[in-house]
Amino acid sequence: MYVGSALSTQGITLERHILEQQLAIPGATGDFTGLFQQIALAAKVINSRVRSAGLAGILGLTGEKNVQGEEVQKLDEFANNVLIRSVEAGGHLCVMASEENEGIVRIPEQFPTGKYVLMFDPLDGSSNIDVDINIGTIFSIHRRITVGRHGTEADCLQRGASQVAAGYVIYGSSTVLVYSMGESVHGFTLDPAVGEFFLSHENIRIPKKGKIYSVNEGNSLLWPAGLRRWITDMQTPKPNGDGTMGTPYSARYVGSLVADFHRTLLKGGVFAYPADKKSPQGKLRLLYEAAPMAFLCEAAGGAASTGTGRILDVAPTSLHQRVPLYIGSAEDVAAAERFLREE
Ligand code: AHG
Ligand code: MN
Ligand code: MN
Repeated sequence: MYVGSALSTQGITLERHILEQQLAIPGATGDFTGLFQQIALAAKVINSRVRSAGLAGILGLTGEKNVQGEEVQKLDEFANNVLIRSVEAGGHLCVMASEENEGIVRIPEQFPTGKYVLMFDPLDGSSNIDVDINIGTIFSIHRRITVGRHGTEADCLQRGASQVAAGYVIYGSSTVLVYSMGESVHGFTLDPAVGEFFLSHENIRIPKKGKIYSVNEGNSLLWPAGLRRWITDMQTPKPNGDGTMGTPYSARYVGSLVADFHRTLLKGGVFAYPADKKSPQGKLRLLYEAAPMAFLCEAAGGAASTGTGRILDVAPTSLHQRVPLYIGSAEDVAAAERFLREE
């Protein structure tokens, strides 16, 4: 059987890559590999449903609202159940938290518990499901800080800086899983013919500065003056220093954090979901959206800020708390912070 196509990038599967990465981490016990394999399995199942949602009668709304007060899409609920079922029996976790569950998600009594905490947004970008625009899954992994069979909410309310790993899956033109254990960031593309994720983006580094900004400008009348001045600055051509004029930034906004962040990570630039008069803490959730993306961005050489401080330093006080987010190329995030200071 010709395996060339299946062994792209020397055929390094996600499992083998995690094993190799773990060898470099003192005290790593191989628990990670099992947990990542279960997350990858969930991603494959969600991926297959996303690709045929229109046929499987799971487009649209369930008619319920989640703890965020948002309409729950059938695919949100499906993805949430798949993720929980895929990891709950593995013995790696002591507790979970999900965007779709108001409180912590306990490990059922019949299963062993372990030393890790998993928090996730099972389906990010739900408003894009029915119009076939990229959506994703975001996950964050901490080591527990309490003792006893079950973890507690305290195990979930840890600063983003103490994550041991984070990642996302983007269900786009191809299905890509991106993860980091803190030192480097790697992407794996699902080969549907084989059902395996193969290394496709080794050691992703975000450019120091980009030429794309990504923000929902529909909210601009609610923005503080400094924020408007920042956006105008990026829209203004600057001299190149040789007598010619540069070009302004381009604007790109998908409306799925995973898609807007994935483009920012690979091409550089900046994504922002600012605080404004309508959402004084912004819209994105700290524990399972901003913090995992910030962990990945910093590991790739970028930056992630609330506008006034590092996302990874925010001490969480509740599972679903929101936080303003400015994330991407270090120089672009620093510029945003500068303009926001100049109220
Ligand atoms: P979710 O679908 O998990 O609720 O997340 C949606 C988020 C995020 O994906 C995206 O960046 C943001 O909502 C878009 O919000 P607006 O539609 O207000 O721009
Ligand atoms: Mn989301
Ligand atoms: Mn979601």
